[in-house]
Amino acid sequence: MSDNKNTLVLITGGNKGIGKATAILFSEKGYTVLFTSRSSESHSQLEDEYKSKGAASAKGYVLDIRQKESSVQLVQAVQKDFGKIDILINNAGIGIFSGVGDMTSDQWKDVIDTNLTGVFYLTHEVLPGMIGGKQGHIVNVGSLASRNTFSGGGAYCASKFGLLGFSECLMLDVREYNIKVSMIMPGSVNTSFNDHSVDDDQDTWKLTSEDVAEAIYDVVNTRSGHLMSRIELRPTNPARKK
Ligand SMILES: NC(=O)c1ccc[n+]([C@@H]2O[C@H](COP(=O)([O-])OP(=O)(O)OC[C@H]3O[C@@H](n4cnc5c(N)ncnc54)[C@H](OP(=O)(O)O)[C@@H]3O)[C@@H](O)[C@H]2O)c1
Repeated sequence: MSDNKNTLVLITGGNKGIGKATAILFSEKGYTVLFTSRSSESHSQLEDEYKSKGAASAKGYVLDIRQKESSVQLVQAVQKDFGKIDILINNAGIGIFSGVGDMTSDQWKDVIDTNLTGVFYLTHEVLPGMIGGKQGHIVNVGSLASRNTFSGGGAYCASKFGLLGFSECLMLDVREYNIKVSMIMPGSVNTSFNDHSVDDDQDTWKLTSEDVAEAIYDVVNTRSGHLMSRIELRPTNPARKK
C-alpha cells in the first residue's frame, strides 16, 4: 500500500485522544483519512485540520458502534463516497471501572457493546470489501488490560480480553485473503479516557497518543509478507502506587 493518497484509512473515534493522533499521523503521510465520532459537531473543523496536515482527503462520519445499523450505514456511506476501505482502525472504546458487585447491567452492556460487540459489527461490514479486493489491514486497539486483570476491571478486562481473542481468530480467518489483522495493546496513555482530566505535569510518565499512533502506523507499514499481529506498548518507568 505505497500509494498513500489512494489508500483509505477509517479510524473509529478519530476525533480525540489516540484516534485523533492517529488521524493526524496518517494525514501527515498523505493518506485519505476517514474518521468517526458519535456526533458530527466537530467534523468540518477536523476535516479542515486533517487536510491542513496533509491528508489527501478527510471526511467525518457519525457512528455509534453499539448499534449494528450504525455500522451498516457507515460502511454503505463510505462505499458510496470512496468505493472502498483499505485500513480499518478499531479504536473507539470506553472504560467504566467498578467492582462487579456495584456494576449495573447497563454499565456492563455499554462496555461490552462498545469495546467488543461493536468491533464485530463494523468488522463484519468491512470484511466483504477487503476479501473481494484481496487486501486490507484491520488494527484493533486493545490494552494491556487485554492480558492483565485488576480489581474494578471486570467489564473492561472482559471486553479487552475478548477483543484479543477476536483479533487473533480474525487474523487466522482472513490472512489467506492477504488481509492483515493487528492488535495494539497500550498501557496508560495520557488522554481524557474515562473522563480523566489530562495533567501534562503529573502524567509525564504515561504513553502519549502520538506513541500509540506511531505504533499503529508502523504495523500498517510492514512489507506485504510481514505481519505484526500483537504489539504491547508500555511506559518505560510507570508511576508506583503508594
Ligand atoms: N487512555 C488509555 O490509558 C488507554 C490505554 C489502553 C487502551 N486504550 C484504548 O484506546 C482507545 C481510545 O481511547 P482514548 O484513550 O483515546 O480515549 P478517548 O479520548 O476517550 O476516546 C475514545 C473514543 O471512542 C469513541 N467512542 C466512545 N463510545 C463510542 C460509541 N458508542 N460509538 C462510537 N465511538 C465511540 C469516542 O467518540 P465520542 O467522542 O464521539 O464519544 C472517542 O472518539 C480505547 O479503545 C481504549 O480502550 C486507552
